[in-house]
Amino acid sequence: MHKCNVLVVGGGLAGLQAAIDAKEAGMDVIVISKLHPIRSHSGAAQGGVNASLANNPAGKDDNAERHAFDTIKGSDYLADQDAVEIMTAAAPGLIYQLEHWGCPFSRSEDGRIAQRPFGGAGFPRTCFGADKTGHYILQTLYEQVVKNNIQILSEWMVVSLIVDEGVCHGVVALDMQTGRLETIEAQAIIMATGGGGRMYGRSSNAFTSTGLGMALAYWAGAPLKDMEFVQFHPTTIIGKNILMTEGCRGEGGHLVNKNKERFMQKYAPSKMELAPRDIVSRSIQTEINEGRGFSDPVSGGFVHLDIRHLGSAKIKERLPGVRDICLDFLGLDPIDEPIPIQPGQHYTMGGIDTNKDAATEVKGLYAAGECACVSVHGANRLGGNSLLETLVFGRRAGQSAAKYVAGLSDRIFTKNTLADAHKRQEFRLNKLCRQSGTKNPYQIRDELNLTLDDKVGIYRTEADMKKALTKVKKLKQQFEKIKPAGTDTRLNYNLIWILELEGNLDVAEVLVKGALARQESRGSHSRLDFTKRDDGNWLKHTIGKSSKEGAVLSYRPAKITKYQPQERKY
Ligand code: FUM
Repeated sequence: MHKCNVLVVGGGLAGLQAAIDAKEAGMDVIVISKLHPIRSHSGAAQGGVNASLANNPAGKDDNAERHAFDTIKGSDYLADQDAVEIMTAAAPGLIYQLEHWGCPFSRSEDGRIAQRPFGGAGFPRTCFGADKTGHYILQTLYEQVVKNNIQILSEWMVVSLIVDEGVCHGVVALDMQTGRLETIEAQAIIMATGGGGRMYGRSSNAFTSTGLGMALAYWAGAPLKDMEFVQFHPTTIIGKNILMTEGCRGEGGHLVNKNKERFMQKYAPSKMELAPRDIVSRSIQTEINEGRGFSDPVSGGFVHLDIRHLGSAKIKERLPGVRDICLDFLGLDPIDEPIPIQPGQHYTMGGIDTNKDAATEVKGLYAAGECACVSVHGANRLGGNSLLETLVFGRRAGQSAAKYVAGLSDRIFTKNTLADAHKRQEFRLNKLCRQSGTKNPYQIRDELNLTLDDKVGIYRTEADMKKALTKVKKLKQQFEKIKPAGTDTRLNYNLIWILELEGNLDVAEVLVKGALARQESRGSHSRLDFTKRDDGNWLKHTIGKSSKEGAVLSYRPAKITKYQPQERKY
């Protein structure tokens, strides 16, 4: 049996940053991950990470307070303002730390870290490494993890958190290669498992971003917060929905409809293509719905992202990954042709409910990054703030977990707690592998994807969301009757997908219930039947708790410090 002070679940940016900080605080740390860390979805982040360095001459007056204001306004005032202030104040220090660790940020002429404009930001404050920023930061943090001799258990999948009387004691995990269940004893656990984008079909997320980590915490007694807020990135390529970074528009790219109009003029005249994502996604969807997009029965319609005028040299220097994706997946060169794009699910604004020290309601359980909801993004995240959140709250999670462990006087559980948890999971896995049902798990997943795409997308109505909730409940019943492909647990991806699916269905239920209940439009949650933001009734977070009868919702007011809610205009 493995044993450590702090177990980090997830090997992406939040997890690696948390591990480094917990280790620095003197903890014995293990990172456990479904993937090798450098294969994590964080590596797919393209456009950049925000920090008010004020390096760009157009951003010389930038500072942490302005960054905080943009973030809060972008969130449609639902973000907790104290948490946002912490994040924006910590940003410059973390970027310079990455620089000192060797992260190859792109540079301006004078040699400083270059900064490009991003959506909803008052100044160019997004630091970047071409269009491979997440990849560069992930490699940089991974080097530090190796340097610090932090143990990594990769291709291990956590199947249950061990919680006894509201205190976390470890996990039961499946070693995917041996097919064996293993118990890991840990005094503190940090969930850093990423988002749940793959509950949707049209998503820019890796297939591994299923939301199981959120489900594990939810099942263990930690509520989920604000799950109804789902970010749709404006520009994903048609068909595959791979991201075309906001950096394309930050570098000067245009959005154009079939009448060759730069339609953002109508929707956000001052910011144009660099309005926040919720607004740009809705604008594109409206152009498509009203017949000004290009029709395409397979993808559901698209508009053009045109970067040709940036010229070959700039595209090759600043957007090489975008070009490669276009060449590989669309067979077109964006130097010569516009890119057919449509909005796609991109980010889970909600997540495991944490406070600003990354702590959950369960003692010893922490969460950071996309799986968590502090909340710094509220109802709509600004581009470039997610990588920042992973660093800031990954660090805080590592430090908080270390402080908690250092304060523990003794072990407060018996060996039976671990052994019993192991037995329960063995029983569960045996049952799942051997049951003689008739339902195909992949079909259930596809139906979930279609339901969320069609009924809980960019524009929402009560009628659609009621249908979605009925469907999710039906799929949960069908899950009880699934037919597994085989009994061998070694590298059994059928079993792995079944485990993921069980989590997806419960997390999706929280999402749909929260969306149905929220009778207003705020940020990414845009209702055709309640078109206005309603601060009187809804300036509050949705808290979803697990119960035998399914998700139970309650509410908590958003924290306001000094930025009073105003109408959001761009
Ligand atoms: O468009 C992008 O490069 C994505 C950035 C982000 O989600 O923060």
